[in-house]
Amino acid sequence: MSALEETFKELYGRPAEVIAEAPGRVNLIGEHIDYSEGFVLPFAIADRTFALIATNGDGMVRIASQQRKNRIFTIDAKDVKPGSAGDWEKYVLGVIWTLGITGGVDILVDGHVPSGAGLSSSAALECSVAVGLNSLFNLGKSLEDLARATQKAENDYVGMPCGIMDQSVSLMGREGSALLLDCRDLTTESVPFDVASAGLELLIIDTQAHHALVDGGYAERRASCESVAAKLSIPSMRHLTMEILDARKSDVTDTEYIRARHAVTEIQRVKDAVTALRANDFTTLGRLINESHFSLRDDYTVSCPELDVAVDASLEAGALGSRMVGGGFGGSAIALIKANQIEAVKDAIKKAYGDKGFKAPRFFTSLPSAGASARSL
Ligand code: GLA
Repeated sequence: MSALEETFKELYGRPAEVIAEAPGRVNLIGEHIDYSEGFVLPFAIADRTFALIATNGDGMVRIASQQRKNRIFTIDAKDVKPGSAGDWEKYVLGVIWTLGITGGVDILVDGHVPSGAGLSSSAALECSVAVGLNSLFNLGKSLEDLARATQKAENDYVGMPCGIMDQSVSLMGREGSALLLDCRDLTTESVPFDVASAGLELLIIDTQAHHALVDGGYAERRASCESVAAKLSIPSMRHLTMEILDARKSDVTDTEYIRARHAVTEIQRVKDAVTALRANDFTTLGRLINESHFSLRDDYTVSCPELDVAVDASLEAGALGSRMVGGGFGGSAIALIKANQIEAVKDAIKKAYGDKGFKAPRFFTSLPSAGASARSL
């Protein structure tokens, strides 16, 4: 019995019935376009969250975490609905709610995706619980069903209007490949991402910054895209081109124009990045990654000084490409670097952070890893 299974037994007095796991993610390119029916190119990272689950006969939902074993959050299953009590437990409760689980369950989670680093620890938590419940209750849901259910949990239970990228890649990620995801219908294609054989490495830089704008700023960007779509009578940014946007410029505000320009150009960059990757053209991939950052910084204005300094220092130290990932206003950046330059790039970022008086950054690397899974115990 693993240490985690032992903890479950100690906390709940009997063994877990299922163990599930789901990874965090980084996104190579395709930022802030998942909620506009765009294309994204993320991959699942090796770090993951585990969820141990068992049914109980008493109609209560209990949630504990290996990181804070002294607290068991308890709620009557009948009270699991939006607006309920709960802090991080709401990510778990939201999934129970969207999957329509009405009986009592005991849950223990063990999170290894750094939280607050923009690596989707919340999607990893939601998806580990979702695949665990799907297996435990034989719900027969597809990965697409689970992606929509976990997104709904986060939108309607937690109150964060996220798109569907993070949950999709946490569920559908594939070892060795980035996932080209069409956010309109959730179809996917594997795009091999083998940086090592090209003598490269993808460095993940956790800026350790977390600005207050995170939630309101995200919702405001999403609302801008929806407003442009409504004004131009199109379903989403997916249906927009620069020709149409320029011809209709006077119908939208200046801010909406630059937000929409980001969406249109970012969707094209994802397509170009897939072509570049398939041709092993990492120079072009690096350029597209840089252009994505400039667009997020200047048109979408979701970057922050810590992210910009990480990107600038990486590029000055020789990275092929570097950009912020995720929602922005903090979190992580990535840098595509020649393997023999990795230490020089890290040193350059550390020095730039020291000079600016920023908190020291943290560095990770990860190869593309498999998506979520569950098995009975
Ligand atoms: C967050 C959201 C995603 C996506 C990214 C930006 O990670 O959860 O749905 O919108 O921001 O690309």
